[in-house]
Amino acid sequence: MTRPYPQQAGGVLLTVLAFCLGLTLVFTLIANLLPQVEGEAPVEKEVDLGALTMDSFVALGETLFKGKGTCTLCHNNMGRAPDILASNMVQDGENRLKDERYKGKASDVEAYLRESMLDPSIYVVKGFGKKGSNDSVSPMPVVDKAPILLSQLEMDAVIAFMQAKDGNDVTVELPKEAPAEVAKTETSAAAPVESASTPEAVAAKYGCQACHSMMATESPVGPSLVDAKSRLNKEAIRQSIIDPAAVIAEGFVDMMPKDFGDKMTIRELDLIVDYLSADAAAPTPQDAVATTSTTSTTGENQ
Ligand code: HEC
Ligand code: HEC
Repeated sequence: MTRPYPQQAGGVLLTVLAFCLGLTLVFTLIANLLPQVEGEAPVEKEVDLGALTMDSFVALGETLFKGKGTCTLCHNNMGRAPDILASNMVQDGENRLKDERYKGKASDVEAYLRESMLDPSIYVVKGFGKKGSNDSVSPMPVVDKAPILLSQLEMDAVIAFMQAKDGNDVTVELPKEAPAEVAKTETSAAAPVESASTPEAVAAKYGCQACHSMMATESPVGPSLVDAKSRLNKEAIRQSIIDPAAVIAEGFVDMMPKDFGDKMTIRELDLIVDYLSADAAAPTPQDAVATTSTTSTTGENQ
């Protein structure tokens, strides 16, 4: 049970034994912690301030991937988008870059991953394009625009996470200064999930806007919900949310998560159903400026 360690303890048997026991404990602890830490942070960048390490940057990326980024709404094992958590994205990225269909500007994996988030249609993974587009248009929303709205730093963190999670080298640089933003995101994402009390909060909590145009943001993945009430009555709207596969809206791929019925509280479901079937489903003014639709003819809300 002993391990090699400095010999200076000499003949004081008891002390040695006690010391030895203690060390064994410590080594066991360290041995348990090491592989994980090494796998996630193989690259040492100059960490000029103690606050932000590559480990915590990668952890931030994971939190964003699963939370604010809404990535797991689509990137899961339902087969509607590549299952990023189950794939080695560095290997996959290298293969994409070698694909003759690739016509983007990236020359390394980091750039490919960034490009995938900022300009998803420049290269569409085979079989995952928008229905009828013959893999020329991606259904993925641009992540630096509303509603996802990741900052530069947040995108870097997500890339770091996608590289690190399979033990690959992280090539993104740590931000020079740890902005307050990081701490904020980390704590707010870690906070216990509270029941949402407004339709806006329900939409944000469940990521509806990643896929639907509603509340003044736009996404082409699912049908626009701004005018849902003109197509569906209240019961049908409720049904579409708790059992989306029952009726598939024409022209769309069946990729709406199936578990909202389990996750939402009754009050949350009521809030969003009432909102979508009410007459006043108008854009909120503070968002309208950024995403004003060019096809809007009413022009009352510039
Ligand atoms: C509304 C669904 C949706 C959301 C939300 C979404 N994606 Fe995607 N994403 C897709 C689909 C579908 C593809 C495959 C088509 C393509 O290549 O664009 C894709 C492709 C990708 C690729 C390229 C994958 C590969 O195998 O080459 C990356 C990287 C990626 N997404 C990252 C992200 C990240 C990070 C987020 C969150 C910040 C995100 N996506 C959010 C649907 C989505
Ligand atoms: C990952 C993408 C995605 C997310 C997230 C998502 N949806 Fe959907 N939704 C779709 C797609 C795609 C359709 C069309 C296919 C179908 O009918 O299932 C759809 C259909 C619907 C419909 C029926 C619309 C019609 O015109 O028939 C409603 C209502 C709806 N969604 C509400 C919601 C609400 C509310 C949320 C958030 C709680 C939400 N969706 C989250 C993708 C999504």
